[in-house]
Amino acid sequence: MALHIVSHPLIQHKLGLMRDVRLSTKSFRELANEVSALLTYEATSDFELEPTEVPGWDHKAIEVQQLRGKKVTVVPILRAGLGMLDGVVDLIPAAKISVVGLYRDETTLEPVAYFEKLASDLAQRTALVIDPMLATGGTMIATLDMLKAKGCKEIRVLVLVAAPEGVAKVTAAHPDVAIYTAALDERLNDDGYIVPGLGDAGDRIFGTR
Ligand code: URA
Repeated sequence: MALHIVSHPLIQHKLGLMRDVRLSTKSFRELANEVSALLTYEATSDFELEPTEVPGWDHKAIEVQQLRGKKVTVVPILRAGLGMLDGVVDLIPAAKISVVGLYRDETTLEPVAYFEKLASDLAQRTALVIDPMLATGGTMIATLDMLKAKGCKEIRVLVLVAAPEGVAKVTAAHPDVAIYTAALDERLNDDGYIVPGLGDAGDRIFGTR
């Protein structure tokens, strides 16, 4: 499906601040959540509303629009995905949270799940998968494979920064999954970091750099 580069000025301003290596952990963490909330706003813009009747201020029945039938699960990929979670859940407070952790097997180099605690009704929920950096795409593809194998039918990916290499791989493996990113950067370097990127997003969120 589509790649959405969300170029709203607020997002671009906040992402620009995050690229500055001098930024404190506190500010990086706050901005990661703010950008994530703005990405959520964009990634949910086609959610269907249902008319429903409520008593208005004068107790007369009025029709309002609600997202009543929409069920969402937010899927943070450990550990850096946790740095986007508050921003997403601020906008979708009823969402269930399905946490996924993967490591790379040293011999096969394939991602292997070491942790998964998923919402029980995945088939009824739209999954918003969150990870700040879409780099090689390996972890993201493994996560999408796993969610689909567990019955998930509608998935959207939210990342702060994407590399063209990662977008191409994820799109080829999962053409039905839309990707929302605040930036499509130049490339991956030889160490697998996105350039210009943000550095190690997990370290910057958790203050471990
Ligand atoms: N993961 C990160 O945290 N940063 C990158 O640039 C690539 C992967």
